[in-house]
Amino acid sequence: MRVGLLTGGGDVPGLNAAVRAVVKRGEGEHGHTIVGFRNGWRGLADGDVMPLTRQHIRNVLPTGGTMLGTARYHPHADDGGMEAVLATLEAERVEALICIGGDGTLHAASKVAEAGVRIVAIPKTIDNDVWGTDRSIGFDTAVSIATEAVDRIHTTAESHNRVMIVEVMGRHAGWIAVSAGIAGGAELVLAPEDPFDIDRVVRFLKHRHRAHASFSIIVVAEGAVPAEGTSMQYRTQLGPFGEIVAGAIGERLGAEIADRTGFDTRVTVLGHVQRGGTPTPSDRILGSRFGVAAIDAVSAGSSGVMTALHGEDVVLVDLAEIAGKVKQVPADLLAVAGTLA
Ligand code: F6P
Repeated sequence: MRVGLLTGGGDVPGLNAAVRAVVKRGEGEHGHTIVGFRNGWRGLADGDVMPLTRQHIRNVLPTGGTMLGTARYHPHADDGGMEAVLATLEAERVEALICIGGDGTLHAASKVAEAGVRIVAIPKTIDNDVWGTDRSIGFDTAVSIATEAVDRIHTTAESHNRVMIVEVMGRHAGWIAVSAGIAGGAELVLAPEDPFDIDRVVRFLKHRHRAHASFSIIVVAEGAVPAEGTSMQYRTQLGPFGEIVAGAIGERLGAEIADRTGFDTRVTVLGHVQRGGTPTPSDRILGSRFGVAAIDAVSAGSSGVMTALHGEDVVLVDLAEIAGKVKQVPADLLAVAGTLA
């Protein structure tokens, strides 16, 4: 069988482990021919195809990024996009497609599946907000990078008696903020799930600095917002694909805190550093497991499904059921971050 493979949306470390697993297992165990489409759905619409054999995936396991390239392009949202995708699949005689992506790519995958294409999806996003799976490829690496950053911020915060704001990614969910905040011992974690009251933040900082410390670290997710009716007016700033303008909330929060407390305050925006570089062992393993499960599912005739981690097990979940939903940080985990302040 000819099986197509693409990676869409923002890149994450661990994508190449998944690509490698699909190719190794697909070619070696199932005798399939795997072809890659460059730059996500864009390449599939444009017919930008490349062969993917064992030779192409040599040495890619420890590498970050995606060897296939990626783009934020959604065929169902583009005039003629769906027709172009179907035409390429027919011209390339591709019988099944494996799509690796986050919410946008998976939504597109469910639309293409509805059009009759056999599709198996694999979840990836450093934000870890894909519904239906305990974990997505890339999250573990992002948390370890963000935790290291908080650790490093700690020593300089303490030396200078400063309030340090660390802005991390997370548009609709604060998984990275909460995880790195707990692991790095931040005083406050602000996440989209729990809109904050700037007056409470300020009261907390003043009390802490008066009572027992002269520095504080606040980890803020890029999608965090002040609660309605509180004294800070702020509207999230979005780019064309719903991506949040980096630094917007971090800078604004830093300015508010400096203004209201008089404390020396600095802002660090981690940005794309969180998505770059070599994947952790955990992301390599998850990528490999999802890759194997996806090509096995394709070979077994499955369609319209996504690989997912449930506890220790890799399972298949219905793509239609997860599309459009966001997996947010549960209240008990948010509470742990709050309690350890
Ligand atoms: O979806 C993952 C993500 O890393 C978001 O947290 C962030 O808002 C966005 O991608 C950034 O996108 P881009 O790489 O297009 O700037």
